[in-house]
Amino acid sequence: MNDLVQLLEALPLPLALGAVSLAGSLGVLAFTLRWSWKSLRHLDAERARRLSLVEDEVRRVADLEEQAARSWQGYRKFQVVKRIEEDAHSSVATFELAPFRLSDEDQGVARRTGSMMILPPLKDLPTFKPGQYVQLRVDLPGQANLLSRCYSISSAYDPKRYTITVARVPGSIDPLTGMAYPAGVVSTYLLDSVHERAVLDVTVPQGDFWLETQSNEPVVLVGWGIHAVPLLCMFETLARTPGTRKAWLFLEVGHEEDLIKLLDPILELAENDPTGRLRVWLSFGRWDTDSGMGRISRRVPRLDADLAESLSPDDQNVTRREGRQAVAWIKRKVPAYFGSAASFYVSGPALLLRESKHDLEAWGVSPDRVHFEVFDRESLDAISEVESTGPSRVTFDIAGKTLDWDPDHRNLLGLAASAKIRIPSTCKIGKCGECEVSLVSGQVRYPKDPDWKLKPGHCLPCVATPASSTLVLGA
Ligand code: FES
Repeated sequence: MNDLVQLLEALPLPLALGAVSLAGSLGVLAFTLRWSWKSLRHLDAERARRLSLVEDEVRRVADLEEQAARSWQGYRKFQVVKRIEEDAHSSVATFELAPFRLSDEDQGVARRTGSMMILPPLKDLPTFKPGQYVQLRVDLPGQANLLSRCYSISSAYDPKRYTITVARVPGSIDPLTGMAYPAGVVSTYLLDSVHERAVLDVTVPQGDFWLETQSNEPVVLVGWGIHAVPLLCMFETLARTPGTRKAWLFLEVGHEEDLIKLLDPILELAENDPTGRLRVWLSFGRWDTDSGMGRISRRVPRLDADLAESLSPDDQNVTRREGRQAVAWIKRKVPAYFGSAASFYVSGPALLLRESKHDLEAWGVSPDRVHFEVFDRESLDAISEVESTGPSRVTFDIAGKTLDWDPDHRNLLGLAASAKIRIPSTCKIGKCGECEVSLVSGQVRYPKDPDWKLKPGHCLPCVATPASSTLVLGA
C-alpha cells in the first residue's frame, strides 16, 4: 500500500488523478460483475427449483394417467398363477392372481369370432392402498346369477400379481336366534375347485378400509383369525417402508397352527427389525372349536383382559402368549401416548368389533383414529347404529307395493324382504353394487359411505334407510 502511495506521489498530479480514477472505475466494475454473477447464480438456482417442481408435477400427472390407463372398468380376467395351502384341511388358501393373457393364436380367434373382448396388456397392475380388497366373480352351476365376493389383498403391492387369501365359510346356526347361515358357496368353490391356471374375473382394488401410508403416526393393528388378512398387508407394507413409523400388530388365533404359513413372512420381518419399531403380539385363545356353531362371534364370551400364562417375554419383537386379547389388555402393552397419537385398525368378527368399539371409546381414543373392517352384515350392524328417522312411506315402484318404514328392518332391503319383494343382493354391506336400484324420488341415508360407487340418482337398499317422508324406489 505504501509503495502505491509513493508511486502516486512521484507522478505528475493529472496522471495521479487519472490513475486513481481508473482504479476506482475498475473497482466499481469488479463489484458490478460480482453482483451480476451472484444474481445470475441465484436466478439459475431459482430456475432449477421451479423446473424441478414442474418436472415433479409432470411426473405426478404421468403417474396418474398411467394408473388410470392400467385400471379397468368392472371385471378383468386373471389367472391363478400360484395356490398356497395355509392349513392342512384346505380350509384356508392363498391365491396369487396375475392378468390373464390369451396366446397370440387364441387372441386371433377371439377377435375373429368376437367371443372375448381383448383388453390391452397390463404392464404393471394398479397400485392399491394396504387394506383394500378385490372382488371376484364366478359363474357357479345351479346358481341363477353370477356371484361376486370381496377378498382382501393379503400381501404388499407387487406390480405383477395380487395376492388374496380365502377361508372356508362354514354353515352355522345362531344359538341365540336359531337363524341358519348357509355355508359360503363362493369360498367353498374357490377352495375345492380353483387351482393353478384357473381363470377368474377380478375388479381393481377398492374399499375404504385402508392404511394412510403418508403419515408417521404409530399404528395399532388389532385382528382375530382370518379376519386379520387386511392387517397383514398393512403390516407388511409398513415393514417394507423405510422409516421410523411404529407398527404394532395384535393378532389372536385359535391354535398355534392357524395361519402360521401366512404369518411366517410377517413374523420374520418383525423378528429381524433392529429398530424395535415393529412388534407382533400373537395370542392363542382357547376357542371352543367343537361346539359346531361355526362362527367365532357367537361363541366368544365377553372378555376380561386377564392374561394367561405368558409364553415368551414381553421385550421381544414377537411375543407369543396364551390367552385372549382385548383392548383393555392392549392398552397396558402400548406406550401411553398411543391413546392420543396412534391410529387403530380393527378387523374381526361382529361381536369383537362391537366390543373393541366400546372399549376404545372407553379408553378415550378419538373415533376418527379408529377404523373397522366390515366383512358382513353382522359386522356392519355391530359398529353402526340405525339412525332414527321419522315415519316414511316407501314405494317399491316395480313391485307396486307401498310400505311403512320400520327401523326393525334396519335397511330398505330388509323392508323389501318383509313384503317378499326380491331385490338381488350379494354382500349386503354396500360393497358389490348388486342391489343398486334407481331412486325415483325422495332421499336416503347411509350409516357409512358405501364402498360401491353409485350411479347418480341410484341407491343401495342393503345399507340405505329413508331420509324423507316419502320414498319411491325403482324396484
Ligand atoms: S348387496 Fe352388495 S351393495 Fe347391496
